[in-house]
Amino acid sequence: MDSSVIKKFALETYGCQMNVADSELVEGILTNLGLEKTANYDEADAIFLNTCAIRENAETKVHSKLGNLHKIKLNKPHLIIGVLGCMAQNLKDDLLKNKPYVDIILGPDSYRKIPDLINRHVKDNKSIVDTKLSRYEVYENLFPSRGDTFNAWVSIMRGCDKFCSFCIVPFTRGRERSRSVESVIEEVKKAVDQGFVEITLLGQNVNSYNFEGKSFSDLLLAVSDINGVKRIRYTSPHPQDINVELLEVMASRKNICNYVHFPMQSGSNEVLKRMNRTYTREHFYDMAMKIREIMPNCGLSTDIIVGFPGETDEQFRETLDLMEAIKFNSAFTFKYSPRPYTKAEQFSDHISEDIKKSRLDEMLILQRKHTLELNQNMVGTFQQVLIEKESKKSNLHWAGRTDSNEWVIIEKNNSNIKDIVPVEISDATGVILHGKEITGA
Ligand code: SAH
Ligand code: SF4
Ligand code: F3S
Repeated sequence: MDSSVIKKFALETYGCQMNVADSELVEGILTNLGLEKTANYDEADAIFLNTCAIRENAETKVHSKLGNLHKIKLNKPHLIIGVLGCMAQNLKDDLLKNKPYVDIILGPDSYRKIPDLINRHVKDNKSIVDTKLSRYEVYENLFPSRGDTFNAWVSIMRGCDKFCSFCIVPFTRGRERSRSVESVIEEVKKAVDQGFVEITLLGQNVNSYNFEGKSFSDLLLAVSDINGVKRIRYTSPHPQDINVELLEVMASRKNICNYVHFPMQSGSNEVLKRMNRTYTREHFYDMAMKIREIMPNCGLSTDIIVGFPGETDEQFRETLDLMEAIKFNSAFTFKYSPRPYTKAEQFSDHISEDIKKSRLDEMLILQRKHTLELNQNMVGTFQQVLIEKESKKSNLHWAGRTDSNEWVIIEKNNSNIKDIVPVEISDATGVILHGKEITGA
């Protein structure tokens, strides 16, 4: 790389944890070449946006950011602007045609080429696109540059073959492929040596992991055996691939967290079918009960879409009804957003924005009630809290999470970030719990 031209880069990440992990890979590649990361756009010679295409508003944010970057570039013509990730994949033609000031467009399977492409661009000053998806790229042997935190994201599989009818991910990320058990283990060991105490295994469809016959459960056991791994989390699973074997593995190991993200999407069998979700409301409910039976007090969160094409008021009420029956600790709720290439975009019976909004509002009220109720049930219980950061509201308090993924605020006392401390939950006023560290325990 011609480092006389490019000395400093900025990198901003949108979207899910997979993108966060990918940005760490890109940062690792660039810093290995001697480039320095900066948060200050004024001193950056290259600015990369690692983008998300999951809903329209994710794309809108990036378009408006690109507008800002264009203005910076007008006064600084040598600035390289790069669009990485899921939007690059999805919008390359549009970007080339309408935003010629974007210099480099790189899809999620092309990051190894980033040094070459920067060099090529510096030589001929032409926009470069590489968005080819790979059947094999899992970025083995590349070590990400991780921030100084407690948690290491470890990507174990990429892509998705599920083709839920609303979702763009199979088109932006390509086919499913898993990384070898050995390379995952090697990366986790390295992360532990660097001082990380929590490992989060990542994939668009994390529990369909399959490497030469080794399943996700096998991998979890292997990671759990590594000395020094205090906590293991994973995201995002698909309900179809959560089975009793996996739950028993989770229950059998202390360092695998008592928490499952269990994305429901809808509680109506008709809607689930049109979403191509491959499970029924009855199966979903039974599995939720199984999770709580095998892992008592397990934290349960979900994703739900309202206003999917053709969703009737009655079908929406079936979703509320299933939420009521299960009671999730938390829920990420979204208005359906039509996405290019997807089957649902072609459906003729789209729902108006007003109806989507009123359904979302009603759902949020119900979820808030459940969160508060479950949080209040925790008052008086004892929890192990991993201290993650300073509380946003007070520099005398820490914020940390329980094994079951609930945020708890405690006084600092003598504890430090990365410590796991025993805490008695004293109060639950909203989504956040308050607790007291039990000293001398
Ligand atoms: N692989 C994960 C989902 C990743 S996307 C899984 O299957 O759970 C995260 C969430 O975004 C999805 O669970 C879904 O609830 C939401 N989502 C995806 N596409 C969407 C769309 N077109 N409109 C609204 N929400 C969407
Ligand atoms: Fe999208 Fe469905 Fe794949 Fe999740 S499982 S990434 S929602 S297609
Ligand atoms: Fe977004 Fe791509 Fe993740 S579309 S949610 S960044 S996989």
